[in-house]
Amino acid sequence: MGKSTNITWHETTITKTDRRIQNGHGSCVLWFTGLSGSGKSTIANAVSYELYRLGINEYVLDGDNIRHGLNKDLGFSEHDRAENIRRIGEVAKLFVDSGKVVTTAFISPFRSDRDQVRALFEEGEFIEVYIDCPLEECERRDPKQLYAKARRGEIKDFTGIDSPYEAPENPEIVIHSDKVTVEEAVEQVLHYLREKNVI
Ligand code: PPS
Repeated sequence: MGKSTNITWHETTITKTDRRIQNGHGSCVLWFTGLSGSGKSTIANAVSYELYRLGINEYVLDGDNIRHGLNKDLGFSEHDRAENIRRIGEVAKLFVDSGKVVTTAFISPFRSDRDQVRALFEEGEFIEVYIDCPLEECERRDPKQLYAKARRGEIKDFTGIDSPYEAPENPEIVIHSDKVTVEEAVEQVLHYLREKNVI
């Protein structure tokens, strides 16, 4: 950290405002957070699909996918998760600058990591979406059989089992994914974006 010296920030000729005007809509990050199996990726992709259908410039950054490339050097220690979230935060900021509505789907279990990402953005650009689903329900779903492995001790530092999840205190949106359908969850997010004049 802090290794870059003798560098100068260059303002770009085309600004975020120019891109928003050209797109005809605002840009922001919908930062999904929640336990493994809570439905982050499913809902994030459904939101993204609906935005795309409406002609909105969108993009999805998803935990499993980013860990195949950009962040393949990182594991699941507290330190590595913090670095994972820091990098995604910076990438999301570039996407917001490019004029898109970017949806991110990372467990992002630590409040301080999420707050550091929030601090990168201007007022209203960072929208924290808490996918609230009880651990018992996530474990019952266990789509990748990871909870079963964690219970058997075959994965360590598994969120909710032997690594903590710190729920957001003041998220902009809360989705109770054990109580609403994916369609209802999408509508909840779109309603928020319309209310805030992002779309
Ligand atoms: S984090 O905590 O935000 O850095 O995690 P993230 O980048 O979202 O990656 C979570 C996905 O990695 C798989 N996986 C684990 N999750 C939690 N804890 C441990 N130890 C672990 N090991 C592998 C798992 O498939 C997560 O995907 P989701 O979509 O959340 O189930």
